[in-house]
Amino acid sequence: MIHIKNAEEIAAMRATCRLAAQTLAMIEEHVKPGVTTLHLNDICHDYIISHGATPSPLNYRGFPKSICTSINHQICHGIPSERVIREGDIINIDITTYLNGFHGDTSKTFHVGKATPKGEKVRKVALDCLNAGISVALPGVMLKTIGATIERLAKENRCSVVHEYCGHGIGREFHEEPAVLHYEDSRDRIVIRPGMIFTIEPMINLGNSAIKHMKDNWTVVTKDHSLSAQFEHTILITETGNEVLTDLDGKITKA
Ligand code: MF3
Ligand code: CO
Ligand code: CO
Repeated sequence: MIHIKNAEEIAAMRATCRLAAQTLAMIEEHVKPGVTTLHLNDICHDYIISHGATPSPLNYRGFPKSICTSINHQICHGIPSERVIREGDIINIDITTYLNGFHGDTSKTFHVGKATPKGEKVRKVALDCLNAGISVALPGVMLKTIGATIERLAKENRCSVVHEYCGHGIGREFHEEPAVLHYEDSRDRIVIRPGMIFTIEPMINLGNSAIKHMKDNWTVVTKDHSLSAQFEHTILITETGNEVLTDLDGKITKA
């Protein structure tokens, strides 16, 4: 069942999504060569707690930390550790906040120090794919249009889309229906409607789309060791288009 949010729920989602976005903006200046991912975790954790919220990942299905940090060929769900980030790395930081009973979810891939050409390429394609998905996430449009649009753009750029993980409805639960695929699935009959709130979060690989899991049972990596990047927003479908709840400028798309 897809939960259509009422005005009160939308107001609460605005607040938690804003906090998630603020956390992501806050951490940016700390992303520099020589810091550990645990340090980034701890700063985000304290920031979220000090704003009256809790980090959703912590203890979620046994996840041990408060944010996800995924470096280079790591696709997603990297666990913060003593690992030091280095000049030329790319790192996705995924923040989910739980505030007044509602989750807000956003992520971004940063370059560490000076960017490499490959890092920049995969970051740009991943960001373009998210924005392309947002641009077609409109009331009355088939949900599968989002995935078809993203996959087409990734392929045009000779990149691949990870199939095993998808965007998701979000609200009182971290992961709700619908599943928002980032590739074309012609069987999907869902129509996008006002009041839906879901994430779009394509994971884009420079090589092929095959994945594997690391021994920690969380971190997902590219099988061919190619770089992977991801950007994520939580969006609200409105009568006239959509609104990016995790964008601090309140980006709006008109149908
Ligand atoms: N934030 C991730 C998402 O976008 C989920 C992380 S689950 C965790 O859906 F357990 F790894 F934190
Ligand atoms: Co998400
Ligand atoms: Co996320």
